Amino acid sequence: MHTLPTIAPERLPDLLAASPKAELHIHIEGSLEPEMIFALARRNGVALPYDDVEALRRAYAFTDLQSFLDIYYAGASVLLHEQDFYDLALAYLARGATDNVVRAEIFFDPQTHTARGVSMETVVRGLHRACVDARARFGISAALIMSFLRHLSEEDAFATLEQAMPLLDHIIGVGLDSSELGHPPEKFARVFARCRQLGLHVVAHAGEEGPPAYIWGALDVLHAERIDHGVQAVHDAALVRRLAAERIPLTVCPLSNQKLCVFPELAQHNLPQLLAAGLVATVNSDDPAYFGGYINDNFRQTFAALPALTAQHAWQLARNSFEASFAAEAERQAWQQRLEACFEQHAQRG
Ligand code: ADE
Ligand code: ZN
Repeated sequence: MHTLPTIAPERLPDLLAASPKAELHIHIEGSLEPEMIFALARRNGVALPYDDVEALRRAYAFTDLQSFLDIYYAGASVLLHEQDFYDLALAYLARGATDNVVRAEIFFDPQTHTARGVSMETVVRGLHRACVDARARFGISAALIMSFLRHLSEEDAFATLEQAMPLLDHIIGVGLDSSELGHPPEKFARVFARCRQLGLHVVAHAGEEGPPAYIWGALDVLHAERIDHGVQAVHDAALVRRLAAERIPLTVCPLSNQKLCVFPELAQHNLPQLLAAGLVATVNSDDPAYFGGYINDNFRQTFAALPALTAQHAWQLARNSFEASFAAEAERQAWQQRLEACFEQHAQRG
């Protein structure tokens, strides 16, 4: 398609929902809905410090990243068996398919589970089996990214990598998440170098709450191919130029940023600024069960709050998500064609 078809503004919400899209920033433990937490707690005989689903939901009032992480790690304690990880991932992928997610690159935090005595094999086998079944059942392409917890040591990350060695066929890359401030990327230089030698893709959370220096570190020291969040990049013009020139994607998560008070309101989110600077920004859900929305909720609410965002941006964001994906070129091209067909359809029917 050479020129973008004209889309009537009132058709934009439908178009956002119907567009095929890749979700590149989703923590599978962050898709654990309160109802599933209670169901798994019952199934596994785990005691919870909340009386019911409503009481747990009421605790989801966050002031910053750490206030969220404390509750998020506690919620994950109900995941014990391979079937639990399977059920969790299959539920997310089924939900994603209804949002027209054609590709999901899913983070998991093995150290959250291995620290409780759950084996790496239990985690990865359950998640992987869900990815395989979701492809057959919903036509969604899915892959796993193992994320190291940055509040733990590099030695702990090395031990985690060692446990994952027999399962690397099921893992496309590694990431870095958890408490950002005080834990710069440099802390993990050696383990990421080893992961790259092993042929794994490399991404890292940086510039969510942390300064632009952490984004530079993720690029120069970890050699990250994508930056997760990265919204603080706007405070450093040279960094913005570098990200644009090298087409380093940012996996932006607007509802997460709002709920963790990175931006006071969605209307103040800098997504339009990132796109205007030519950055390969994408829209993602991060931890949808905790932040009140899956990927289409992120698109819908962000576009509603920011009138500067138009059908042209919707197009660019979906396109960026395919460009930023680690899927094979043929698959990415096929999704791009579906995107073009979707836009044509929304233009014609108006
Ligand atoms: N783990 C889950 N969600 C996260 C986020 N938004 N930032 C850092 N670590 C996370
Ligand atoms: Zn994240």
